[in-house]
Amino acid sequence: MTHLCLDSRRCNELVDALVEQGWYVGEDFIAPDLCRDLNQELAILAGRDVLAIAGIGRGREHERRRDIRGDTIHWLDRGSEAQGHYLQAMGELQREINRSLFLGLFEYEVHFAHYAAGAFYKRHLDSFRGRANRVVSTVCYLNPDWPADGGGEMVLYDPESPERELARVHPEAGTFACFLSETLPHEVLPTRLPRTCIAGWFRRNASLGGLVDPAY
Ligand code: OGA
Ligand code: MN
Repeated sequence: MTHLCLDSRRCNELVDALVEQGWYVGEDFIAPDLCRDLNQELAILAGRDVLAIAGIGRGREHERRRDIRGDTIHWLDRGSEAQGHYLQAMGELQREINRSLFLGLFEYEVHFAHYAAGAFYKRHLDSFRGRANRVVSTVCYLNPDWPADGGGEMVLYDPESPERELARVHPEAGTFACFLSETLPHEVLPTRLPRTCIAGWFRRNASLGGLVDPAY
C-alpha cells in the first residue's frame, strides 16, 4: 500500500467545506515534523539571502509593490525530501478535490513565503485579471509556538459582504487553509514577528490562442 501523507478523514472534511462554503481552515493538518523540516529549509534560504521580493500581477504586468505585499519567496523546486513530501500531500489533496468538485485541476504552483517583522499583504484575490486559472489556493503555516499577540493573521472575507470576516487564521505550524482563488478576498495582517508559510495554487490551464499561460 502506498503511504499517504494526509489523513483521509481530514481530507474529506476539507473537500466538504470547499463545496459547501468555499473555504476551509484546519489546525494540525500537516504533520509537525514535516512543518519543522520545511521551516528549517526556509530559514536556510533566508539566511543565504536567496529569497526574492514578491510581486503582484503576472507576465508584463508583474510589479513589485511593497505597499501592497511585503513577503519574500522561493518557488519549490523539489530540492529536498521535505519538499517532496509536501508536494506528495498536495497531490493527494488534488485527487480528492478533483473527485468531488470536478475542477480538472492539473498543475500546482507553490512557493515558500517569508514575512519579516512589519510585513503584510493587503486584501486581494489570488486569481489574476483575464487569466482566472488559479482555482484553489492553499496555505500551510510553518511557525512553531506562534504567540497570541504575534499578529500576521490571515483574514478571509465574505465575497457577498466585503466587510464581514469569515475567519481569522493564526499562522501556527501545521494549520492549513484552502479556499477558492477566484472568489475569496483575503489579507495578511501586519506581522510582529518573522512569519513563514508555503502558499500554493491548483491551476486549470488557461490556454488562450494556443498559448499556455506560463508560471512566473
Ligand atoms: C498569498 C496569500 C496568505 C498567507 O500568498 O497570496 O494570500 O496567510 N498568503 O500567507
Ligand atoms: Mn493570497
